[in-house]
Amino acid sequence: MDLLERFEQDRWDAVVSPHEQRRALESLEGGRVVYFPQLDFPFQAAERALLSRQWDMRADKNISYAPDIGLLRGVRADLPDRALLVGLMQRFADTTKQFLRQLLPTYGPQLSRARTSFRPVEIAGRPSSYRKDDTRLHVDAFPSRPTGSARILRVFSNVNPHRQGRAWRLGEPFPEYARRFAPRIRPPFPGSATLLRLFRITKGYRTLYDHYMLRLHDLGKADVVYQRQAPQMAFDFPAGSTWIVFTDQVVHAAHRGQHLLEQTFHLPVAVLAKPERSPLCVLERLTGTTLTANALGGEKGTASCSAAG
Ligand SMILES: [Fe+2]
Repeated sequence: MDLLERFEQDRWDAVVSPHEQRRALESLEGGRVVYFPQLDFPFQAAERALLSRQWDMRADKNISYAPDIGLLRGVRADLPDRALLVGLMQRFADTTKQFLRQLLPTYGPQLSRARTSFRPVEIAGRPSSYRKDDTRLHVDAFPSRPTGSARILRVFSNVNPHRQGRAWRLGEPFPEYARRFAPRIRPPFPGSATLLRLFRITKGYRTLYDHYMLRLHDLGKADVVYQRQAPQMAFDFPAGSTWIVFTDQVVHAAHRGQHLLEQTFHLPVAVLAKPERSPLCVLERLTGTTLTANALGGEKGTASCSAAG
């Protein structure tokens, strides 16, 4: 499986040629990982202390940050390095945003910035329920954070100071993953999305699309035979490298590694160069159902997906 597309850029502010922009767009929307082996995220001297301290993590496995409102979560309020950590995460959020503007100009301001995360805890050996276990192959979908219909695009930088790689596995193409698990998915109980939002279990309305994606995430992780036997490719992203992935489309697992910075972006399906390849359109074709109205510029999703595809 040739799932990685390599780029030689080694600067975050490098000018990207139109040819490279097209190559990145085509690769990402085609379900491949856009990989920059030499694109290191630089730490300032004082920030290096963040990579050697012991983190007193609570239930969250990551430290998360909302860059547009400056809210840090997952660490104690009286953390001595708090300002340093906020500065680092804000810089990563701003740098990746500028970088994607250069790399993927057709997405423009529609590519909206969501959470930043810093993952200082070793993945291997970390206790977890199967649903939260990211060492199992899955596509991303989050129970409390529905996207409605928006895509999830993530930028990862391995910032490990001991040159330790981040070990991933990459799985089969999304349409095959969806064909395997979607027939097992039952519709949600009528009214359940409204109740979930009312009781603040979800931050927003869980559409049928969100329901399907969440079930695909859970069914994939729960199937131990699939985990063992599914087509998959192991790859170590070395320290000092960066990679970009539509994690709602690329079947992936992360099973070893420590010290990662990650920035999430959301993107409306209508802005994609080829919406027909999105998980939304794949699932709508598979189920013959409109999973979210108005997802594609005001038309019914199914009509727009099949027209484009
Ligand atoms: Fe994931």
